[in-house]
Amino acid sequence: MAQFRLPANSRVGKGKTFDAPAGVTNVKQFKIYRWNPDDGQNPRVDTYNIDMDNCGPMVLDALIKIKNEIDPTLTFRRSCREGICGSCAMNIDGTNTLACTKAIDEVKGAVGVYPLPHMDVVKDLVPDLTNFYAQYASVEPWLKNDNATTQDAERLQSKEERAKLDGLYECILCACCSTSCPSYWWNGDKYLGPAALLQAYRFLADCGDEATGERLDALEDPFKLYRCHTIMNCSRTCPKGLNPAQAIGEIKKMLVQRAG
Ligand code: SF4
Ligand code: SF4
Ligand code: FES
Repeated sequence: MAQFRLPANSRVGKGKTFDAPAGVTNVKQFKIYRWNPDDGQNPRVDTYNIDMDNCGPMVLDALIKIKNEIDPTLTFRRSCREGICGSCAMNIDGTNTLACTKAIDEVKGAVGVYPLPHMDVVKDLVPDLTNFYAQYASVEPWLKNDNATTQDAERLQSKEERAKLDGLYECILCACCSTSCPSYWWNGDKYLGPAALLQAYRFLADCGDEATGERLDALEDPFKLYRCHTIMNCSRTCPKGLNPAQAIGEIKKMLVQRAG
């Protein structure tokens, strides 16, 4: 399980408590990290006591309820609310996951909600993903193939070739894996991290791509790839059930085979 670490710009101050309305008996407590870059204050953890008889089942439902009914200043990202867009990734109950697919009932006691660990924070639960996206772009995540097909023709793939992309194409770039990885915490500026490497392998594994050599050359680097020490936090935390550590292992294998 990914252990929570406070974000890089953290020193926790005294938080506020928001009580449930009088007469409410089914209460769940949420302890939520707050930081506003504009108020000059240290980060704090606010406590919200939520009426669960009037709240949806997922952590994202509670966050939306808090924002709509209790505290409109609470800031977080979300879009699809069904585990597809990756926007609502955060650290809940000590594990990086998606707020929209994490059931409140799964958490015993108070629900701790923090931004993804070891990233700079833009505000509250919103991490700065600028470097993460730049690393994704750096693996050139598109098919490279100079062989022209005739107009309107498909590039055919056998079922077996297509199956090699299973477990890769489903990645939603939520960053849960990379921000759970100790190597990425310490060397995130130079180590690409499991998400970008899984994406790199997605194109190495695609028979429609012809840039294998060029892609492997770009990855053969002591930091970009080889900072992975197979700690496996990434695969344990992925909310889509993917295995970035295995994809990284496959890239290393391709490099060994190429050398031999
Ligand atoms: S591999 Fe999983 S945890 Fe990592 S970015 Fe993709 S979906 Fe998110
Ligand atoms: S297996 Fe590699 S990428 Fe995954 S958490 Fe460990 S060091 Fe990070
Ligand atoms: S809101 Fe899209 S993955 Fe959670």
